[in-house]
Formats: sequence, structure tokens, C-alpha cells
Amino acid sequence: MEALRLILRYVHLIGFALLLGGAIVQYVSGRLRINPGMLWGAAIMLATGIGLSAPLRDGDEPDPAKLVTKLVLAILIFVMVFFSRKRDVVNRGHFGAIIALTLVNAAVAVFWR
Ligand code: HEM
Repeated sequence: MEALRLILRYVHLIGFALLLGGAIVQYVSGRLRINPGMLWGAAIMLATGIGLSAPLRDGDEPDPAKLVTKLVLAILIFVMVFFSRKRDVVNRGHFGAIIALTLVNAAVAVFWR
């Protein structure tokens, strides 16, 4: 179980790199569109996050309220990414919100103990 949890955590972090890295690359390039890295990253965060929420820790589980908060934010991010994936240019506020929500979700992961 511990090995499974560590693998899920590892892939979760790769998804985080794809989502945030993909968004930052677009942002600094000046062309605000959804790239495949962001789309894959958002999907990986949802899939591995749900896996990580399984009771894999022998009793020392994260607060369910934390998991629900993360799930709601991640669904929001995924919807915002998925339904804008074909747009040539997305609204600056929309793009900024994707980055901000991603950073908030990482902060929830790290600081909510
Ligand atoms: C964009 C969405 C998400 C981001 C940016 C994100 C970010 C992170 C980060 C940075 C970590 C820390 C990993 C570590 O300390 O090793 C983490 C851990 C974790 N995440 Fe996510 N996550 C997201 C979505 C989700 C979702 C949807 C769930 C499930 C509902 C979830 C559940 C977890 C769990 C259970 C952990 C381990 C936390 C712990 O052991 O305290 N995450 N996440």
C-alpha cells in the first residue's frame, strides 16, 4: 500500500509540473491558450488525487474537508482547462484564474495539516 501511495504521489507531482509548467510557459510566451501539458496535467491531478484520497496510510489519513476542498478546486480547474482547450486565445482573467487556483490547491496540500 505504501508503494502504491508513493507512486500516486510521484505521478501527482508530475501532473502538477505539467499543469503549472504548461501554464507558465504559455503566460511568458504572451500567447494565452491551453496547451496539451495543461490538459494532461489537469486530468492527472484529478485521477491521482482521487487515488491518493483512498485510505492508504494505516489510520493517519488527511482531513476529509481538505480532500473535498482540493477536489472542488481541481474539478473547477479541469473544467476551465477542458472547455477552453480549442480556443486560439483565452481571456486573461480566465487564464490567470487557472494559475491562481492551481497555486491555491498546492498551498492547501502543503499547509492544511
Ligand atoms: C490542480 C489540482 C491539484 C494540485 C495543484 C495538487 C497539488 C498537490 C501537491 C503539491 C501535493 C503535495 C505532495 C507532497 O507533499 O508530496 C499534493 C498532495 C496530495 N493531494 Fe493534491 N493536488 C491537486 C488535486 C488533488 C485532488 C483532486 C485530490 C483529491 C481529492 C488531491 C489529493 C491529494 C492528497 C491526498 C495528497 C497527499 C496529501 C497528504 O499526504 O497530506 N489532490 N497535491
